Amino acid sequence: MHFSAFERRRQRMISVQDHIFWLETQCTSYIFRVNEHAHAEHVYYGAKIDRGPIDSLLLKRTVQTGSCVLYAAKEDDYYCLDNVLLEWSGVGCGDYRQTPAEIRLSDGTYRTDFQYESHRLVDGCLPPETLPGAYGDGDGAQTLELTLLDRPSGARLLLLYTVFPETDVIVRRSVLLNGGEGQIVIRRLMSMQLDLENRGDSLVTFDGAWIKETHRHDRRLQYGQFVNSSVTGASSNRHNPGFLLCEDGTTESHGAVYGFNLIYSGNHYGMAELSPNDLVRVQLGINPHCFEWPLSPGERFETPEAILTFSDGGFNGMSANFHDFINRHIVRGDWKGRERPVLINDWEACFFQFSRRKLLRLARQAKRLGIELFVLDDGWFGERNSDTAGLGDYRVNTKKLPRGMRSFADEIRSLGMRFGLWFEPEMVNPDSDLYRAHPEYAVVTPSREPLYGRNQLVLDLCNPAVRDYIVENVSRILDDAHVDYVKWDMNRHISDACSPFLKCQGQFFHAYILGLYDVLGRIFRPRPQILLESCSSGGNRFDLGMLCFSPQVWSSDDTDPVERLAIQGGLSYLYPLSAMGAHVSAAPHQQTLRETPLSTRFNAACFGCLGYELDLKYLTPMEKKEIRGQIAFYKAHRAVLQYGRFYRLGGERPNRVFWQCVAQDRSRSVLSAFQTLTGASESGEILPVTGIAENAVYRLETRPQRIFLRRFGGLLKHILPFELNPDGPVLRLANRLYALTDCVERYEAGGGTLMQGVRLNCQFLGTGYSKSVRMLGDFGSSLYTLERLDGEQSGKTSGTGAS
Ligand code: GLA
Repeated sequence: MHFSAFERRRQRMISVQDHIFWLETQCTSYIFRVNEHAHAEHVYYGAKIDRGPIDSLLLKRTVQTGSCVLYAAKEDDYYCLDNVLLEWSGVGCGDYRQTPAEIRLSDGTYRTDFQYESHRLVDGCLPPETLPGAYGDGDGAQTLELTLLDRPSGARLLLLYTVFPETDVIVRRSVLLNGGEGQIVIRRLMSMQLDLENRGDSLVTFDGAWIKETHRHDRRLQYGQFVNSSVTGASSNRHNPGFLLCEDGTTESHGAVYGFNLIYSGNHYGMAELSPNDLVRVQLGINPHCFEWPLSPGERFETPEAILTFSDGGFNGMSANFHDFINRHIVRGDWKGRERPVLINDWEACFFQFSRRKLLRLARQAKRLGIELFVLDDGWFGERNSDTAGLGDYRVNTKKLPRGMRSFADEIRSLGMRFGLWFEPEMVNPDSDLYRAHPEYAVVTPSREPLYGRNQLVLDLCNPAVRDYIVENVSRILDDAHVDYVKWDMNRHISDACSPFLKCQGQFFHAYILGLYDVLGRIFRPRPQILLESCSSGGNRFDLGMLCFSPQVWSSDDTDPVERLAIQGGLSYLYPLSAMGAHVSAAPHQQTLRETPLSTRFNAACFGCLGYELDLKYLTPMEKKEIRGQIAFYKAHRAVLQYGRFYRLGGERPNRVFWQCVAQDRSRSVLSAFQTLTGASESGEILPVTGIAENAVYRLETRPQRIFLRRFGGLLKHILPFELNPDGPVLRLANRLYALTDCVERYEAGGGTLMQGVRLNCQFLGTGYSKSVRMLGDFGSSLYTLERLDGEQSGKTSGTGAS
């Protein structure tokens, strides 16, 4: 038989021989076996190894340990489940680590022991039926379905593993089927469990709160459990569901890293446990908090998909796997892989106070700057003039938009821009027509006063009538106004979790998310042309579940670029730049009062899906000119900035952040160097460069940017021949019309040479200003571009930097 190269690759991804299961991707191997006690025993997950005998990889059992409970005392003196690496574990059989499944059986007992029954291999994916999942048929994905059986109860457990070879990702989930005769109740069912040996591992999580999402935190694993979870009803800004496990000494470019994430937007639970025997157990799934799911005979429950990756190329290697995987196998619809438009959002310019005239003025100014999409945020419907009223009433407020939404949208389009609209469909204000007509639509606990967040209550998405109301109302406006973009917001944590539509209140949190996915699917699947950006007070629901519907997510309400270095930097470990909404806003910043240069605001926001969110009428002519240049630059480079290979480049100094995006064909690249707080008289600065072709010649060049005179204040007296009041009318006028250009450096050299790091010109330190002095100060930054000049290295290195 003849196999094409592709088919050969496909043949090799998952193989089963003598009850040994080999799952392979381009650079990784995942091995487990069914052992002599019919348990799925984990053998290896890491860098790719050749298939062959696995004896040397097996954890040995040649002595009986004290305090152990033997699984089969009559036949095997050494088999104690507490010391075995397991793909899955039950309850009450001697494994005292965290169980992935807690099931109350029909007789009221909890003991379960899931043993191998059968398996099958399927080409492509076996997507979840009730939840969004990864997709990838036709590009080499292959699925293993392993069936385990708890014989006495008849409960069957399917463990699914889908291998995505090109991106080094394995997707896992579990499905429980009640094959017995009575009702059982699931109290905990993880999507996956992975047992490994401890290599001095550290756990990296991405945590925060409103306006400080996804800050990276590291801690070494200690004996016991570390839990990364959320109970707010959403994936939350507190702890992103994604986390990493890395070996001692891992850096951005070196070391072994495992990455985990969950395709789910509700309460999640991630856990890493270091057992007394130095085994590491990782679990990921739906949070068992207040969770109970009854299963009648014949019913099944499926968990969300968990994604796993491994890289021995440090954090950047791991991130690249996740980025590629999300761009190829999670994001879908017409915007998959498509360059995202530059938008203007009216929120920070207008808040709730706007008129048609005011908005059109903003739109015209935006168009002149090169902006492509106008987004009308909160305040356009019902009596929504503050955050105390109107949520739920999606009727256009004709006092603000007298000719209606369609006419307004048409006017925006006639300017040559796309039109986008904000909704918060999952919520209701008690001061709204919807609530007055249907108080039963809101989530409350019977006989208790409901709790409010931002003056609003949560709509009961477990109620089919509520879901229909949302689908009909949102769809009507989308179709009527031909909306091109939607910002779907959700601005409070859930309390009072309760719905009369459930047979058991322990179902609420999961049923809410199923309801949300139903609504999103019904609205947006038939309208794939709409670019959906999901938002939840910023990044309160930045997760893979939402990314299955919305190709981008608003990263944070915090648009201060210095804060964004931590927020976008944190997100970048788990999510591609094409998924991150990032805007330039006014300074001082609404959230921090920090004053930052316009250049830095752009330099941070351009590493994402760029937008502007400020009142353009207050910009000086010079600032407008600068922004026009920023947008033109972004358009020319956004393919690389949104879809290129992204690197975080470690600097020696804590006050520096370096980011780089490299085109997939390595022909061009954009680099950034940010300085948070300046240090006096810093010297010898090196711009790190990576990921380009060693043997090609490149030109590296600073992107020219303006420094506004205002930045220098009273210092201007040092360079002016006469004295001027730094706050007087002359300098204020000069600041509107003139600006200095920051130092521009140019180098031509081979890729190999540049990757040794580029020695940059010196920074300003008070001893004089010239065009070859880099003017950074606190929160200063620069962008650099790399352009490949030809295929071969000339050997010549030239610079025009140090003039
Ligand atoms: C949330 C969002 C903001 C904005 C407001 C509008 O806070 O995160 O971007 O849309 O709601 O009320």
